[in-house]
Amino acid sequence: MPKINLLPREIYELIAAGEVVERPSSAVKELLENSVDAGADSITVEIQAGGIKYIRITDNGCGIAREDIKNAFTGHATSKIFSADDLDCVATLGFRGEALASIAAVSRVEMFTKTAEEEIGTHCVVEGGQFISVDDAGCPTGTTIVVRDIFYNVPARMKFLKKDVTEANSVAAVADRLAISHPEISVRFIRDGKQTLFSSGDGKLISAISAVYGGDFAGGLIPAEGSNSTVKVEGYISKPLAARPNRNMQLFYVNGRMVRTKTACAALEEAYKGSIMVGKFPSCVLNLIMPYNFVDVNVHPAKTEVRFANEKEVFNAVYYAVKNALARGDERPSQDASKIIEQRVAKQYFAAVEPRTAQLHFAENQPAEQPVFVKEKKPETVVRVESPKVSGYSAREEDEPQLIPDILPKVQPAVQKNIEEPVTVTVTEEKPVETRVIGEVFTTYILVESGNELLLIDKHAAHERILYEQFKTENKNIASQMLLSPIAVTLSKDEYSAVLANLDLLSDAGFAVDDFGNGTVLLSEYPCILEGVDLSEQLTEIAGYLASNIREITTEKLDWIYHSAACRAAVKAGDITSSYELEKFAQKVLSMPEIRYCPHGRPVVAKLTKRDIERLFGRA
Ligand SMILES: Nc1ncnc2c1ncn2[C@@H]1O[C@H](COP(=O)(O)OP(=O)(O)OP(=O)(O)O)[C@@H](O)[C@H]1O
Ligand SMILES: [Mg+2]
Repeated sequence: MPKINLLPREIYELIAAGEVVERPSSAVKELLENSVDAGADSITVEIQAGGIKYIRITDNGCGIAREDIKNAFTGHATSKIFSADDLDCVATLGFRGEALASIAAVSRVEMFTKTAEEEIGTHCVVEGGQFISVDDAGCPTGTTIVVRDIFYNVPARMKFLKKDVTEANSVAAVADRLAISHPEISVRFIRDGKQTLFSSGDGKLISAISAVYGGDFAGGLIPAEGSNSTVKVEGYISKPLAARPNRNMQLFYVNGRMVRTKTACAALEEAYKGSIMVGKFPSCVLNLIMPYNFVDVNVHPAKTEVRFANEKEVFNAVYYAVKNALARGDERPSQDASKIIEQRVAKQYFAAVEPRTAQLHFAENQPAEQPVFVKEKKPETVVRVESPKVSGYSAREEDEPQLIPDILPKVQPAVQKNIEEPVTVTVTEEKPVETRVIGEVFTTYILVESGNELLLIDKHAAHERILYEQFKTENKNIASQMLLSPIAVTLSKDEYSAVLANLDLLSDAGFAVDDFGNGTVLLSEYPCILEGVDLSEQLTEIAGYLASNIREITTEKLDWIYHSAACRAAVKAGDITSSYELEKFAQKVLSMPEIRYCPHGRPVVAKLTKRDIERLFGRA
């Protein structure tokens, strides 16, 4: 590497400045970038106690010459740029000459380093920015840097550090990204003495993805590549069926630098439009290769954002690479309605013979021959069901006569007959309200004639609320179903550790989950209510929530899981629902006065009185 020079003031003032070291993972990110810039093809990262106590990074790069050691730890000193013009085409990950000085200012640093030309290496100790010693060291070519007690002299910063496990996850994510953005480098990550990542450095992106996220995830990807006059795109995207509930697995690199880019993200999602459900997100690992002068990396102090000279070219390159990959590689089975119905019938049969699963939707048996929720959309379908039997909900034996306030007609309060007193009180007979399910409109609303009112029940909102109530009733004692073969679910590192930290909570919610290692968990039991739901997606959604709501209390987390599961398991607007099912819905809703709103707060029932309708026709 060329000599390390102090940048003149007029140059370093052009550089996006700010906090370089916020937490252990930001220090690790900087140190790893130095190793990459030094040309290393093997890097080992080791941390203890989340990196707060101890970080060690060893590389086999070019090393730092003895005469450059002091400059390496001096602010605005770098071997990577020399003039203001160099800032326009930065080819290295570092360029500010800031990182080592910033890290050494807030920790105790020890470095062993040697260049290929030197016979003897250098060992130096820097504490709180002060050089304590520089002496000879017998070490191989390359650099080993040890950072101890980060923020030991900045207690205010120390306070903002999270628990060791959270900090360690954040460091793990940095190591993951390094392995993926540089498949030609073998990356090893050792966390509290245990190796949790090893990438072979064979130069193949798919090997690196597999090392980081596991073979299952890698196996579900399709290669994507394409280029236009300026931008070349290469990498992998997820199959549409493997869509995730969040964007945690969208990884973009620009010339090997991990960045956040709204342009590429928008292009990716635009390309998936029509192939993926609304509210679902694709995953990707895409490297965008472009001339260095086409991208400005001097935008953000942490070097994680970039500006493109031409956003449109970037958008188009990503969009077409993804679109073509989807056209080639999306082997999505066509949705065959008859198959779905067959499966549903089979499930219903199962429900009839297995009492536990029979609780699925209403905790009541349903006839085996009824296909229930066919998830195939049939717009504009109107199912008219003239119910032969008049189902007066208040006549149900097991239920107290209950009414939905403001929705159903008020019943005259009955006066209790007092045996002690003589017969001076008149008893008013309580008349059950005549209720008739008329059918369904727009495959969304159930129409019910109830006394003098026409009720419209939003079937999704109602079902969601019913299931949510069922979860709450079974609270922590959720009826669950074992899977014949457990499902492996690959998660991002944050999600993975959030799941592992909440195994008991998940078990309370009816999910039996075990660690399968390397970012993957095994789901072996799930709440019966979720029969027919994509369990992998459900668990991923819960994992995403747990990862970003670490501080929430257990009951809030459980409640969120109940909401989420109820929403997934509930019949959707547009689903075809059998007449039997419609009737059941109506009965259930009318028998539970508390069901006025779905868990998200949307109304479940709306009404039109006979008078309202008469007014519409000028009769009243
Ligand atoms: N692992 C390493 N191997 C070889 N040289 C290194 C290593 N780490 C740092 N250096 C040298 O020390 C210099 C200072 O490193 P530092 O990270 O502070 O700045 P930089 O990488 O130039 O810019 P930035 O602040 O953007 O990271 C580098 O320019 C490089 O010459
Ligand atoms: Mg650097």
